[in-house]
Amino acid sequence: MTILDGKKISNDIKNEIAAEVQKIKDKGEKVPHLAAIIVGNDGASLTYVGSKVKACERVGFESTLVQMSNTTSEVELLEKIKELNENPEIDGFIVQLPLPPQINEQQVLLAVNPDKDVDGFHPTNFGKMALDMSTFIPATPFGILELLDRYGVETKGKHTVVIGRSHIVGRPMSILMGRKGFPGNSTVTLTHSHTKNITQITSQADIIISALGVPNFLKAEMVKDDVVIIDVGITRVTDETKPRGYRIVGDVDFANVSQKASYITPVPGGVGPMTIAMLLKNTLLARERHNI
Ligand code: GUN
Repeated sequence: MTILDGKKISNDIKNEIAAEVQKIKDKGEKVPHLAAIIVGNDGASLTYVGSKVKACERVGFESTLVQMSNTTSEVELLEKIKELNENPEIDGFIVQLPLPPQINEQQVLLAVNPDKDVDGFHPTNFGKMALDMSTFIPATPFGILELLDRYGVETKGKHTVVIGRSHIVGRPMSILMGRKGFPGNSTVTLTHSHTKNITQITSQADIIISALGVPNFLKAEMVKDDVVIIDVGITRVTDETKPRGYRIVGDVDFANVSQKASYITPVPGGVGPMTIAMLLKNTLLARERHNI
């Protein structure tokens, strides 16, 4: 069994990006600049956005964090998005999800200039992805492809089962794994809350990508020998023995499933760090596209 070490690979990618930034600096050009908007004070979201900003510093990017209160109106948020769309200093930006209930997420995603949409959530970019056109691939799915690629995990002709159909992970992953090319060329089954007898499906899977958010959902009895496991779950579970009072738990019963798996991502240290590295990669791409 091989651990798909997202911590190590994401570090490699950050080093590669830092080297690119150095080349940009050596030429006397402007370094990439990522901005993030966060609305409200959800603990997990603040942590994720904080990690994104820290990662920018680590590779030599400029970063801007825009914090808006929980009572921000949709109009105020759309105004801020317009500002970032029009600011030539900003190469790319993200609006951290989820948003408070008074804000319509679809309106927000539509307002982001697709050329600065480094999350790849705008329908233009999502459509391009589905049509195999060059675009920003959402960071978490992009990170999973990169892990499969760097470890040389075969996907061609394999049966990939995706658990969860979220717009951020499950849905794009189901499209990407079925695309022509590598990683891709899989036969994909997308499962969700209305799927009947999921064990019958997971037990036939060569590759399982779980993005459900239910701790320890996937058990050893549900998978076959030599399965490849990608665990995208990151649920906070109360744990008073930890300094923060919680620990992060994945969708997969790692202790038992890892005994049967050929490759498996740990939680933490698997997909999570890859997401941030790929957001940086998309920002570097955004800068290149603006400079063409
Ligand atoms: N919330 C959870 N994951 C993500 C992500 O990749 N991007 C944004 N903007 N919000 C998220």
